[in-house]
Amino acid sequence: MTIALHMSLHVYTSLDGLKSNTSQLGLEMDLHVDAQTSPQTTGSESVNTDSMDMEHGKSPDKEATSKSATETRGATPETIREGQATIIFPSLNEVFYNPVQQFNRDLTIAVISVHAELQLAAKGLKVSYEPRNKEPDTAHNGATSTEGSNDPSVATDTYHPGEYCQEGLCVLEGLSATGLRGVRYAKEIPGLKNIVANDWNVEAFKAIERNIQHNGVEHLVTASHADASLLMNQYRLSDRVDVVDLDPYGSPAKFLNGSMQAVKDGGILCVTCTDMAVLCGNRSEACYAKYGAMSLRTKYCQEMALRIVLHSIETHANLHHRYIEPLLSVSIDFYIRLFVRVHTSQSKVKHSAAKKALVYHCEGCDNFHLQRMGRVIPIGTDAKNFKYKNTYGPPVGTKCENCNSRFLLGGPLWAEPIHDPDFVKKLLSHVNAHSDRFHTSPRMKSILTLVSEELLDCPFYHKFSQLFHHVRSACPPMKKFRSALLNAGYQVSLSHITAEAVKTNAPHSVIWDIVKEWVKQNPTPRKRKLEEDCISNVILNKEARITVSFDVRQDAMPMSHKQGMTRFPANPAPNWGPKARAKPSSSSETLEEKRARLQDKRAKPKEPRTQTET
Ligand SMILES: C[S@@+](CC[C@H](N)C(=O)[O-])C[C@H]1O[C@@H](n2cnc3c(N)ncnc32)[C@H](O)[C@@H]1O
Ligand SMILES: [Zn+2]
Repeated sequence: MTIALHMSLHVYTSLDGLKSNTSQLGLEMDLHVDAQTSPQTTGSESVNTDSMDMEHGKSPDKEATSKSATETRGATPETIREGQATIIFPSLNEVFYNPVQQFNRDLTIAVISVHAELQLAAKGLKVSYEPRNKEPDTAHNGATSTEGSNDPSVATDTYHPGEYCQEGLCVLEGLSATGLRGVRYAKEIPGLKNIVANDWNVEAFKAIERNIQHNGVEHLVTASHADASLLMNQYRLSDRVDVVDLDPYGSPAKFLNGSMQAVKDGGILCVTCTDMAVLCGNRSEACYAKYGAMSLRTKYCQEMALRIVLHSIETHANLHHRYIEPLLSVSIDFYIRLFVRVHTSQSKVKHSAAKKALVYHCEGCDNFHLQRMGRVIPIGTDAKNFKYKNTYGPPVGTKCENCNSRFLLGGPLWAEPIHDPDFVKKLLSHVNAHSDRFHTSPRMKSILTLVSEELLDCPFYHKFSQLFHHVRSACPPMKKFRSALLNAGYQVSLSHITAEAVKTNAPHSVIWDIVKEWVKQNPTPRKRKLEEDCISNVILNKEARITVSFDVRQDAMPMSHKQGMTRFPANPAPNWGPKARAKPSSSSETLEEKRARLQDKRAKPKEPRTQTET
């Protein structure tokens, strides 16, 4: 099956040809390398920012894909197996595939499965994750069932992976490359009606068609050869889909408007961004152009990246009288992946300004303050009517109260929770109950557990070692620091992003009081006197406002730590690293040859993350 888009977008044999055709259509196409330098990163929070022309790096874990196709892809077609799919590649590196992105695909399969389960349950239908038993099944409700068929005319009330479901979900994968995702969704997620796997690259399109056939999923997956934005716009006029999946090279920004036309009310948008240099403050002007927000080079830049993208998705949603509800927003290695539910409501759109904020970031001590863009004031007690007002500001003076440095302005960004705790709980139960479905399930469990422990109403975090670095002191055990925050009456949590994150609702003055007290109790011998006006001295010389207790508390350790979970696994795979774009078929260079050619021309991979917690 093939979808034909009756527009001037058909077969292209090279990216150059494609670029000139798209510019005639007024479409944006990013073919340049955007940034090669890293945002401000050290140690465990490293962000690889070779991005824009590179894609999806770092291995999720040791168990990544069984065979590294990119290592071995030569002149003849190759097959690789991931999940339940077997994918045939064209020769050379003509179609994009990155084996280390299996985590991204596994996580998406879990998210769509949970969504499908909820949607079907509302219609009185069930799903099973086991392959269909060929014999008549009496397992469900004790009655013989006619379940499980590729034939749309067969009635059933329980659906297994690989089966057509008339009442099931429709998925649109806008940027499919090999069709791997589409095929995996078809073979692994029960309760689906149709998946459209689209790519505008002709080699990719042929690969999608071939892989649909090879995996016997013609009854569920449709290959499409179109520009993703134009394709998504078509859905505005017909039936919208339950899930839109966008997994582009670099930034998804240019596809967001289309996605808001394609996804149905209550449906899910899944988005990957790999342009972390842009989102993490190395190219704030490019970030503003793409996402309508100024990024900042900060210790919390990965969370800021998530919040900038949520702000951008919400802005696109608002144009169509829609708004978003973030379900799960994760920063994985050097890319981010977001899952949001999309709703339509002209009145709720009016709340959007109040969900966003500017950030004032102290360039001295990394202190941050949020300034909401608007206020919503309830009228009466029934929470049905509201007034919408501007906010008063700014929330800070011209100099930081703790270190006298100036503030940098960033944003606007999403200031509301970035995950839905109920959805994350369901997702975690699903992964725990069906671990064998996912090759990367250990990492999925770690990240989802950490996400479930994050404080929801505290945007950003402090980098633990940096706090003590500012005052030239050694760090205390992290549990003592967390206990001090709890003893002072505040909340504290980790973040899934880095083992060094301290999320808290404590004001910065309290954090510095705790740091100062530690320095007082554990003075560090200094070789030379600190200059009078250096940040350390300014912070240390401020009067403390609270009494600090470092008495260790049981609740200072998160459950994931008590359970001995490996929470921040290292990046171990030999293939770890960003992945080059697919090359047009004229290129005869294999990836190994390219590696040899580029040897020592790029930065060495960063040190793996380590578990720094004590
Ligand atoms: C990163 S790859 C997709 C990887 C794939 N989702 C996976 O998990 O293996 C991005 C793909 O988007 C395609 N692409 C880029 N711009 C596009 C556009 N405007 N419309 C359709 N496809 C596009 C490229 O040809 C490429 O195959
Ligand atoms: Zn400061």
